[in-house]
Amino acid sequence: MAILRAKPLEISPLIKWAGGKKRLAAIIQEEAEKKVDFENIDTYVEPFAGGASMFLHLASKYEFKRQVIMDINPALINLYRQVRDNLREVTAGLDKIQVAYNALPENDDFEAKKAYFYEARTQFNKILIDGDGDLIQQAVLFIFLNKTDFNGLYRVNSKGLFNVPFGRRKSINLYDNNNIHQFSKLLQNTEILLGDYRNTGKYIGDRTFFYFDPPYRPLTDSASFTSYAKSTFNDDSQRELATYVMKIANAGTHFALSNSDPHQSDKNDDFFDNLYKDFTICRIQAARMISARARGRGSVSELVITN
Ligand SMILES: C[S@@+](CC[C@H](N)C(=O)[O-])C[C@H]1O[C@@H](n2cnc3c(N)ncnc32)[C@H](O)[C@@H]1O
Repeated sequence: MAILRAKPLEISPLIKWAGGKKRLAAIIQEEAEKKVDFENIDTYVEPFAGGASMFLHLASKYEFKRQVIMDINPALINLYRQVRDNLREVTAGLDKIQVAYNALPENDDFEAKKAYFYEARTQFNKILIDGDGDLIQQAVLFIFLNKTDFNGLYRVNSKGLFNVPFGRRKSINLYDNNNIHQFSKLLQNTEILLGDYRNTGKYIGDRTFFYFDPPYRPLTDSASFTSYAKSTFNDDSQRELATYVMKIANAGTHFALSNSDPHQSDKNDDFFDNLYKDFTICRIQAARMISARARGRGSVSELVITN
């Protein structure tokens, strides 16, 4: 059983993440609570964690017995593990890099800050390729790059190397001390898994709740951002996910899933309506911030699917 906390925690994501659900978490929770009593849930599983906004939101309200977050992005998973296991070293690294960056001059078209950013990016990628380098430093650089790159994006090239350009930030504040400590405390009893969402089968059961927030299906008229990792998530991937969701639901597992609403660009595109026809599909309004084109920034409709 999950325990309703007497006073909810207030924890924000450590990073900006494309498709982040911070502003939608309350609505998604409302939809989920129409179907499931979280006090009857033991295990919370979020297989497409990203910035983990939904996890932070729900685990702030309910104290779950078991919590699992997962992502296919190795640098992101390393960040969460380091914040859980080596918080003091992580914050010391963040302090050091923040002081160094903020002290650099902004004249000559940000030349000094720009050079610092690209040096950090090279170091980050080197640790990423080596695999066994300084993982605390990798976590520190992850936050630094996220706060100084263009739009807080995380994008990699075909070799898996981070390639987002410099975002021309004058000064940075890399973390909030109280927030990162609360985050770390919450992670103490959280399983942090690297891998594909299908490796969550052992959590299936009627006292488990899954929240799925896969990469958006790009709208037909936009070049939406989808590449968080080397692999791409195409329509076949969305179909495979629907098959997995059907499997866990048939075993009595509770779930909520969100995605972009294809009706925004084509009223006749019933891709998700067909895939999830056995479940409840709700359309909600959301403000989308990260998009390849300015016109993608207005209010958009999102799907929330529950069982
Ligand atoms: C839309 S984002 C999740 C955003 C998150 N809900 C938030 O609030 O920040 C989708 C995430 O799925 C991850 N991902 C992509 N393919 C995956 C897979 N096969 N298994 C697990 N995670 C995957 C991406 O790395 C990305 O972080």
